[in-house]
Amino acid sequence: MRIIEFESAERLHEIVAQEIIKRVQNNPQLVLGLATGSTPIGVYKKLVEDHKKNGTSYKQVTTFNLDEYVGLAKDHPQSYHAFMQEYLFNHIDIPSHQTHIPNGLASDLEKECQQYEKMIQQAGGIDLQILGIGLNGHIGFNEPGTPFSSETHVVELTESTRNANSRFFASIDEVPTHAITMGLNTIMQSKEIFLLITGSQKAEIFRRLMEEDVSEDLPASILKRHPQAFVYVDEEAASLLSS
Ligand code: PGA
Repeated sequence: MRIIEFESAERLHEIVAQEIIKRVQNNPQLVLGLATGSTPIGVYKKLVEDHKKNGTSYKQVTTFNLDEYVGLAKDHPQSYHAFMQEYLFNHIDIPSHQTHIPNGLASDLEKECQQYEKMIQQAGGIDLQILGIGLNGHIGFNEPGTPFSSETHVVELTESTRNANSRFFASIDEVPTHAITMGLNTIMQSKEIFLLITGSQKAEIFRRLMEEDVSEDLPASILKRHPQAFVYVDEEAASLLSS
């Protein structure tokens, strides 16, 4: 796991976007793993700007999102389907059938998880997975204690995660209690991984990630075992480590 530090989130977004664009240009059929949450929004903005200005094409790109809430319709404003449309898919030329997000309304959720896992394999695996990190160290919705061997599965969200995400809902009672997420093993199968960490509220979890051993209590720590995992961190998130 390599750490790359930036003086600002803006600069981090720019460089991460450039790295993604480079990979799409080198391999137009790239399989891209995507994340939601506030962290990657700045990167998606840069991808959209570049698509409009320079015409980088996503016509042959395939995407797989990390997760989706259980029980929210695709057009619910807080669903990750709606998020991806709003911040990326509506603004680039990717055909919708090449974008994949777990279906949180599937009648058989277990089957949905197995099919999602299979689709990733059939696409040849994920070339580059983008990740954010939760305040409790989760990646995707893999909360502390999730087995490292996990594949796509249904999770019960922790109170910490529901609280953190309640800022997007009218009240905490409206935050779904469950989600479908790629597992830690699914994520680790990606050929390359970019974990993005920005803002002072992430300083403590970044400090833990740097200082603690690999353990299922800190799901993101598994990335230390990945040969091509890069952590892009801004100055604010790194503030508890720099003197
Ligand atoms: P955030 O979420 O980007 O909104 O901070 C990250 C996460 O919970 O994985």
